[in-house]
Amino acid sequence: MNSSTHSTELDQTRLPSHVAIIMDGNGRWARKRLFNRVRGHERGVEVVREIVRAAREIGISILTLYAFSTENWQRPKVEVTALMALLRKFLRSELQEMQENNIRLNTIGETERLPDNVRKLLQENMALTEKNDGMRLNLALSYGGRAEIVRMVQEIAGKAKAGTIDPDAITPELISDHLYTKGMADPDLMIRTSGEMRVSNFLLWQIAYAELFITDTLWPDFSREEFTQILKAYQSRDRRYGKVSDH
Ligand code: IPE
Ligand code: IPE
Ligand code: MG
Repeated sequence: MNSSTHSTELDQTRLPSHVAIIMDGNGRWARKRLFNRVRGHERGVEVVREIVRAAREIGISILTLYAFSTENWQRPKVEVTALMALLRKFLRSELQEMQENNIRLNTIGETERLPDNVRKLLQENMALTEKNDGMRLNLALSYGGRAEIVRMVQEIAGKAKAGTIDPDAITPELISDHLYTKGMADPDLMIRTSGEMRVSNFLLWQIAYAELFITDTLWPDFSREEFTQILKAYQSRDRRYGKVSDH
């Protein structure tokens, strides 16, 4: 089945605008095959390519991928180094694809903690794709929801102290405007691969009303087909937002 067949099965009027994915299970995929964990990450990058392409073709506006958490810095140095090298390779190889597909690259997280050569590539690619308006690809790198919230509180408290924000005027919108995802709609759908029933510090504020979907599939085995099936399942969910269903 090709991609266009898949997209026609989806109700184009009820697509999630923003999809967030916790790409988990690379290590377990590798271990099952007696491979080094890095082989799992390499395979994971291939799946990133496929899912970015699929999301763009389907018509998703924002795709946020959890690629590296603040906690992931505590992994063995060889693994962190390999992940940074893979990230560099990805950024180099995908620039053309992003331009051709009108994809705008963005990052969320403490990018100042990333190695200089990665940061530089990110900045270049973000600047070069700035005008693309087909889909926004948000890479969560050195991202942690709690760290993001701390940063937001510090900024707002600083403004309150300086007298530019009135504490009584703090609203959910003002808080959203001080997060990395400023100006973006909250995720409608959050997917986690590899079966863990947890959010692992991802987008804590933003997922208040996201539909959650957890699949046992390990990220390197995830596919465009399964992604489409999840989007279909999403379309059959009744999003009530605490209210009473209207049908
Ligand atoms: C997800 O796969 C990728 C990153 C967190 C960078 P893992 O590396 O967490 O794989 P498992 O969970 O050990 O299988
Ligand atoms: C979440 O996966 C982070 C990313 C996918 C980048 P982890 O493997 O780091 O999370 P835990 O350890 O299962 O909570
Ligand atoms: Mg994991």
